[in-house]
Amino acid sequence: MKKAIVIGASSGMGRELAGILAGSGYVVGVMARRVPLLDELRSEVKSEMLVREIDVADAETAMEKLANLIKEMGGADLIVISAGTGDINYDFKWQQEKDTVVTNVLGFAALANVAIHHFIERGSGHLVGISSIAALRGGRASPAYNASKAFESNYMEGLRQKIARLRLPITVTDIRPGFVKTDMLKAQNVFWASPPDKAAMQIYSAIERKKSCAYVTRRWRLIAWLMKILPARVYERL
Ligand SMILES: NC(=O)c1ccc[n+]([C@@H]2O[C@H](COP(=O)([O-])OP(=O)(O)OC[C@H]3O[C@@H](n4cnc5c(N)ncnc54)[C@H](OP(=O)(O)O)[C@@H]3O)[C@@H](O)[C@H]2O)c1
Repeated sequence: MKKAIVIGASSGMGRELAGILAGSGYVVGVMARRVPLLDELRSEVKSEMLVREIDVADAETAMEKLANLIKEMGGADLIVISAGTGDINYDFKWQQEKDTVVTNVLGFAALANVAIHHFIERGSGHLVGISSIAALRGGRASPAYNASKAFESNYMEGLRQKIARLRLPITVTDIRPGFVKTDMLKAQNVFWASPPDKAAMQIYSAIERKKSCAYVTRRWRLIAWLMKILPARVYERL
């Protein structure tokens, strides 16, 4: 049986994706801080699911916990980093900016490091990171959030380039969601907001097709294209 680990599986896209993987024949290890929600998910699936607590913001301990779970499961074919934080921060509060950087930058890089070392050691594997369409440009609502997602996307591109040299069957997939109706989406009345189960199905499809990068839902490719071509002087006044 294939083995997957989803970090940030207590809610939103990570939870939905963990459920899809469990229903598709994977043994799944799920990690997050809210363990009761992970236990609830485990009670809903029919296949084997391992539940472990992790706080990504404590990078070194998180690395240890991920490495331990990989060992317990006898290796992992697929590791998904869905854990992430972000909130609207118009007051530009430092603590909020810092929390975002610590989780999305430091935590993300730490977990990706464990995953890639594991895949190189075993000779194959698939790392999936949930960045965002926000990775494409800066954002006044939370400068740290957009910048942290740009870090994640850029980091994954660096990993793909690094792995290409090794000529091993290791895939790194950058998932860039637009708006998805999860706890994280604070803004109301936003356009094209997808339910998390639909987003997770499209993430699963991108995993199956071993894509390097996928916009979720697919129509967000159009917004991505617009974001890329918009001149800075226009974008800054939006
Ligand atoms: N929703 C959107 O519109 C949208 C758009 C683009 C990108 N994204 C990205 O998609 C990913 C998933 O978010 P979501 O929309 O599904 O929202 P969500 O329901 O809030 O899920 C976030 C997940 O991350 C986990 N998490 C947060 N901080 C953590 C920490 N310090 N340690 C361990 N786990 C942590 C949460 O678990 P615990 O709280 O239990 O620890 C939860 O399982 C995030 O990286 C987000 O940036 C979301």
